[in-house]
Amino acid sequence: MGDLFLSPKPIRSSFDPRAEIVLFHGDVNEFITQIPDSSVSLIVTSPPYNLGKEYENRVAIGEYLKAQAQVIAHLYRVLREDGSICWQVGNFVENGEVYPLDILYYPIFKELGLKLRNRIIWRFGHGLHASKRFSGRYETILWFTKSDRYVFNLNAVRVPAKYPGKRHYKGPKRGKPSGNPLGKNPSDVWEVVVRDWEEAFWDIPNVKANHPEKTIHPCQFPIELVERCVLALTNEGDWVFDPYMGVGSALVAAIMHNRRAMGCEVVAEYVEIARQRLVAYFNGTLRYRPMGKPVYQPTGGEKIAQIPREWKETPQARLLEGKDKYR
Ligand SMILES: C[S@@+](CC[C@H](N)C(=O)[O-])C[C@H]1O[C@@H](n2cnc3c(N)ncnc32)[C@H](O)[C@@H]1O
Repeated sequence: MGDLFLSPKPIRSSFDPRAEIVLFHGDVNEFITQIPDSSVSLIVTSPPYNLGKEYENRVAIGEYLKAQAQVIAHLYRVLREDGSICWQVGNFVENGEVYPLDILYYPIFKELGLKLRNRIIWRFGHGLHASKRFSGRYETILWFTKSDRYVFNLNAVRVPAKYPGKRHYKGPKRGKPSGNPLGKNPSDVWEVVVRDWEEAFWDIPNVKANHPEKTIHPCQFPIELVERCVLALTNEGDWVFDPYMGVGSALVAAIMHNRRAMGCEVVAEYVEIARQRLVAYFNGTLRYRPMGKPVYQPTGGEKIAQIPREWKETPQARLLEGKDKYR
């Protein structure tokens, strides 16, 4: 392996309190025993959804949740008093029936005494097209804190206001700007690029260029999604931990903002890609979508945004051309 793959910061393969980056290859249950009590500021992860993806064995939903509850109890132990857990999940689907995983996970966290601060909706524009229910276009992030004394750096994640020029129209502040010069609270609905890049690639031919982070992993986090959690919920030098790190998106987000990063992953190939992505970040060669970049909106002029000529008189075409009104 050439110099290109050497990291300027040492990457440890087991927990070391003096380390800045730890990549553990193996099971979370094994790694977590190495981590001291109350040491991690942010646990941010997307666990396996029990969907039978290439990296998981599908089991009965009750069995899956029982195993996850054991992991979460350990995660609680390593979390600092002022720390947070961000648990990103979608749906488990069986025989066409949808089980929203966040609802099933909620009691597990609650029983440990964790407090829910937000149920964040992560909305994306693309994904599988359902035919027997509405197509799913969001997943959620449950943000829990261990105590009432938690880190929340709102100013670090404010976004531009829609109407920054608004002014108070009455009272002692009449005539003064009513917003915050740093921008507005980003709210609990986050629109952060699509998760399923493959699908987006087929929908919009040039979108691949807009999603430079894609690796061989079937369901990666966009780095941008984690950056917001890192910036809002931790301070520089804090530990950020992803127990199901995949190709290390959460770790890259942590390192970008001068936090310490650790993660574990059972698939050796993903661990290696995570390592290469971290090194590429340090070398300035990692391709990623910058935080806050607007989501691509078709202009309507693209060929794929136009009604096929075979469908000219369909209800969809008539609606778009203003010939009919929506019923
Ligand atoms: C939903 S993916 C996470 C992807 C990650 N957010 C990313 O951006 O790459 C879940 C990951 O957990 C890993 N995994 C499954 N069971 C595990 C276990 N017991 N211990 C550690 N990792 C595990 C899977 O191999 C998979 O890569």
